[in-house]
Amino acid sequence: MKASRHIGANVPTICYHEHCTANALCRICVVEVEGARVLAPACVAQVSAGMKVHTRNERVERSRRTILEMLNSAVDLSQAPEIQVMMGDYRADSNRFPDGARREFEVKDDNPMYIRDYSKCILCWRCVQVCAEDAQYTYAINFGKRGFESHIATFFDKPMPETTCVFCGQCVGVCPTGALKPKREWLLEQGYMPDEVMEKTRDERRRKKRKN
Ligand code: SF4
Ligand code: FES
Repeated sequence: MKASRHIGANVPTICYHEHCTANALCRICVVEVEGARVLAPACVAQVSAGMKVHTRNERVERSRRTILEMLNSAVDLSQAPEIQVMMGDYRADSNRFPDGARREFEVKDDNPMYIRDYSKCILCWRCVQVCAEDAQYTYAINFGKRGFESHIATFFDKPMPETTCVFCGQCVGVCPTGALKPKREWLLEQGYMPDEVMEKTRDERRRKKRKN
């Protein structure tokens, strides 16, 4: 991926973040390596001498398009502007899988700092990575369940204030879809006026302080 960017060939990424360990989860970055049986995820593929790589041909485009269409069928991407641009760029059909099961969860509003709306979560794992060895070493969040039921969770699904979370905001900063969002921004979207928002989050913080 870095080699291709070096020569100006744009390889799209979703799960990759320049400050996180690349882990090849989303597969939007696949490229075709001549002679290889399957497409290679560019964010983890190593270059070698004589390698011939197609960063955007019909096979690569079809694969990226299908990934976008599947994501769109299951997750609310309305606040993921970069993915929406990719949808247009790869001519992804937003109705390709109309019967696909939607991943729908209640918004988790359990602390004064940020909300978690996992209906918008694409499981890119960036938040888990920055909460762990890639930045904070806090380990408040991780994966829960398996397969289609996989989701980002706290241990035993405890509310965030009862975990090791220190509310550093790193996870909110790297989330590409609005699944993690500052509480104040979310309250404004809900129609609260700025002074009500200040009042509401201040009260909650005071309550939390008293509790501690
Ligand atoms: S909450 Fe955001 S950062 Fe975390 S896995 Fe989901 S989309 Fe990625
Ligand atoms: S960006 Fe490479 S697999 Fe997600």
